[in-house]
Amino acid sequence: MDTDDQPQPDDATADATTDVPERVAEIAAQAAALADAHVEDDQDKAGEHTGEMIDPGARRLGIGVDVGGSGVKAAAVDLDTGELVSPRHRVPTPQPSAPAAVVASIARLVKKISAEVKLGPDVPVGVGFPAVVVGGVTKSAANVDPGWMDFDADTAMERVLRRPVHLVNDADAAGVAEMRLGAGVGQRGTVFLITLGTGTGSALFYNGMLVPNLELGHMEIRGRDAERRSAAAARIRRGLSWKAWAADLDEHLLAIERLFSPRLFIIGGGVSKRADQFIPRLTVRAQVVPAKMRNDAGIVGAAMAAAEQEAAATAAGG
Ligand code: BGC
Repeated sequence: MDTDDQPQPDDATADATTDVPERVAEIAAQAAALADAHVEDDQDKAGEHTGEMIDPGARRLGIGVDVGGSGVKAAAVDLDTGELVSPRHRVPTPQPSAPAAVVASIARLVKKISAEVKLGPDVPVGVGFPAVVVGGVTKSAANVDPGWMDFDADTAMERVLRRPVHLVNDADAAGVAEMRLGAGVGQRGTVFLITLGTGTGSALFYNGMLVPNLELGHMEIRGRDAERRSAAAARIRRGLSWKAWAADLDEHLLAIERLFSPRLFIIGGGVSKRADQFIPRLTVRAQVVPAKMRNDAGIVGAAMAAAEQEAAATAAGG
């Protein structure tokens, strides 16, 4: 990102001079205004930071953001160790989850983190988001506001945050973190990270290399989207026992296994804390293990994936 090209603080609404599409500029301006609006209590789990500014020294940092169905989480991340170097923030996901409101929440979180940790202007922001993401543009909106359909999120967020921003699919982000630092370390061959939350996310790795945007939550089982039965939210929505839900999840994993013959399934999402309730009931041939990084995988993986995309863009002269 060339910071010289970025709008200055007071001209977020002056778009005539840039080639940003009107809708993107409009949403960025709305988000900037919303982010600045005084928020008495944004229900941040991390609370107010009262300590001293954290000096990361020579560590390579990124900011990771994980947008979920119920919460938006964020922290500064050491890109080499995956350690969180700021408090872990969590605010409720705006409802409706329209782009301007979500971008405003992210902007407020990033502002807080930059008041806690010394961050250079080029420290990139990675955002894990529950949609197909191609070149920073969201290409689906299954469990989020339809306003995200075909939305150039990278451009809008760079305007508001004034940092390099890269959006990635949330399951891909969690998968990157698990493969580098968690249950997938050293795992070759075909490995899936399946994340079970509001929807069912899937990330495919072959010899550690990510094949992005695999949407196996939307493969058809019994005439409808598989995630309608396999997501963690489906168990609660349908009032199922762990045993009954495990059978539905098993059906989904068996269908994936028939198509891809993976060696390993890593199961992520909050529900992985209760792995003992369902993993022993699964009948797939592949090994199934819970994710190791639990809640932080989305944040850490988004920061790592964004830093890599930024490095690639810089190397390509972009
Ligand atoms: C979305 C995916 C996402 C998954 C988990 C699905 O409904 O289509 O992109 O990874 O939910 O959040």
